[in-house]
Amino acid sequence: TLKDVEPFLTLIESRNDLAAKLKLQYPLKDIFVVRGDADQNEMVKEELARLMAEELTGNLFKNAIVSVAGGSTMALVSKFLRPKHEGLLFVPARGGLGEDVAFQANSIVSHLAEVTSGQHRVLYAPDSISKASLESLKEEPMVREIIDLNSRSSMVIHGIGDALQMARRRNVTQEVMSKLDGEKAVGEAFGFYFDADGNIVHKVKTIGLQLEDLENKESIFAVAGGDSKKEAVKAYLKFAPQNTILFIDEAVAQHLLG
Ligand code: BG6
Repeated sequence: TLKDVEPFLTLIESRNDLAAKLKLQYPLKDIFVVRGDADQNEMVKEELARLMAEELTGNLFKNAIVSVAGGSTMALVSKFLRPKHEGLLFVPARGGLGEDVAFQANSIVSHLAEVTSGQHRVLYAPDSISKASLESLKEEPMVREIIDLNSRSSMVIHGIGDALQMARRRNVTQEVMSKLDGEKAVGEAFGFYFDADGNIVHKVKTIGLQLEDLENKESIFAVAGGDSKKEAVKAYLKFAPQNTILFIDEAVAQHLLG
């Protein structure tokens, strides 16, 4: 009966309300808000991944190339993506960033290709090599292919992280930690650390997608939930390109409106 569904309708309405208000404040391609706080409940992160997979499917097309970042949120996407389009190609957005194997873009792209019966490429690039080695690595045909695919991809999917949490997770050196601290880094996305004003304050030296590349993508799917990421997302939106489709939870949404 209507009485039974009423509480749910109110909930849906309040979330849509949040998204509608956010859209007035932030001129992005689209914004989706899911219920709850991902820090409190793992299901919220799953819901973010599910919704993102659904929207991604709607935007994909035959033979589309998708650049994929790492992280625990991206690692959930393959659980929900279905083989609706032929010939999809998933490429890691950037080289190793010091993450656990399961959270590395290389692993995530292989799962995404598997569930969509598509293809993937891997990028074997260590995250802490000298500038000279990095430059010569870029000349390797396999590496060049990844760089080229990332510049040609139509979509990018990625998470946004809290700066210090990401730095700790990646076991960065004390030197990098102090730099992030000194520069007041609050957020991180594919190896770029930024402050509250959206200035890039540190870059992980690696190969792949550059921030400039984002401008000419058809869509960028950015996903982040949890109270601990609220400052990171707010800062990210200071420089997020207009073609961004944002997926957040209520915990982040409330903060963005505040
Ligand atoms: C990293 C991505 O692997 O994961 C970043 O390169 C992102 O783009 C981070 O900030 C987020 O991780 P998680 O586990 O919070 O989804």
